[in-house]
Amino acid sequence: MKMNNVDFETYFKNYPDENGYFGKYGGSYVDADLKRAMDEISEAYHTICKSRRFIAELRRIRKEFQGRPTPVSYLERLSGSLGNVQLYVKREDLNHSGAHKLNHCMGEALLAKYMGKKKVIAETGAGQHGVALATAAAYFGLECDIYMGAVDIKKQAPNVARMKILGANVVEVTEGLQTLKEAVDAAFAAYAKDYKNSMYCIGSVLGPHPFPLMVRDFQSIVGIEAREQFLEMTGELPDAVVACVGGGSNAAGMFAGFLNDPVDIYGVEPLGRGPKLGDHAASLKYGTEGVMHGFNSIMLKDENGEPAPVYSVASGLDYPSSGPEHAFLRDIGRVKYDVVDDEETIDAFFTLSRLEGIIPAIESAHAVAYGMKLAKKMGKGSVLINLSGRGDKDMDYVIERYGIR
Ligand SMILES: Cc1ncc(COP(=O)(O)O)c(C=O)c1O
Repeated sequence: MKMNNVDFETYFKNYPDENGYFGKYGGSYVDADLKRAMDEISEAYHTICKSRRFIAELRRIRKEFQGRPTPVSYLERLSGSLGNVQLYVKREDLNHSGAHKLNHCMGEALLAKYMGKKKVIAETGAGQHGVALATAAAYFGLECDIYMGAVDIKKQAPNVARMKILGANVVEVTEGLQTLKEAVDAAFAAYAKDYKNSMYCIGSVLGPHPFPLMVRDFQSIVGIEAREQFLEMTGELPDAVVACVGGGSNAAGMFAGFLNDPVDIYGVEPLGRGPKLGDHAASLKYGTEGVMHGFNSIMLKDENGEPAPVYSVASGLDYPSSGPEHAFLRDIGRVKYDVVDDEETIDAFFTLSRLEGIIPAIESAHAVAYGMKLAKKMGKGSVLINLSGRGDKDMDYVIERYGIR
């Protein structure tokens, strides 16, 4: 399949290019020291991660420790309540530690071990990436420092407890809005001081090259499995695939399985309280091109051109940019990016829980909300939604803020 001169048959060989560019997006905008560290990771990724030994070990870990493949579930009652469209979910909530994040954390931490690093460092928003990396660090016997905004620490208390139980050091970040962007800033600064001994394990398809490539590749297991499972269950491909987009890792992984298929693909960003700057985190819808955290992409900026304050009910989605691959797929028209707001998301959170017995992460509830809207619009056909994580971490927060609906 081709679109705007991009051939999806050979897409994964050509995108990103050797400097980490998806078209004009991506790259590596870091100082000389960090560039050396990124080059070391890139070199290791292209040699170690392609070795038979690494691939075999990761495959075994995915099966025996993570519990993969995660299933695809048909949502019979939800589909019935919406009309004639059949809705399905890829159950990343059943991946060990409760979300898709462990897919790239096990890959990144295994690479750190092969590289002889002693420590892994990362940022976290919802705490899901932090929990996943703390899990991977415990598994491989690595030290683990997780940087987290003070606001998110309050909102995601159960995940903070989990990280601590798993032996991670949770570092509170009190700068700025005290959420994900500031956590990334702090984690990068810590890594720059200690890159010889440690490995930065970014939480999404963000950051300088090779992270957007590496994280996408580790997450592509989601799309590869889902495609196979859907074909086996129904004998055909879904008409549409949907995933929420924060930094964009669960979406990149899911979409990777379907880019070369005649399937409509939708990325869902958080509209939060509405379209005013500061009330949402829908960077692909409202942002402009710019460089932040070492990569060029589409981002939300304030009047001084600095990353704008963002908001979403979902801590894992409130980041002022998205991965460069998403900016590229948007520009060439292969993926449509749209939004749902907090209210629609919380409705979907309760609807999926009540009709299907699955409590989704608030991040994932964005994709469910959009899938439900799409089903009504389509009238017939099938929609496969990536259920990126489970909602246990969000229950106290939802009940306190919205009550039981
Ligand atoms: C369950 C879940 N889904 C989605 C996301 C968003 O991240 P990404 O866009 O990288 O998948 C997060 C982030 O913490 C998450 O915890």
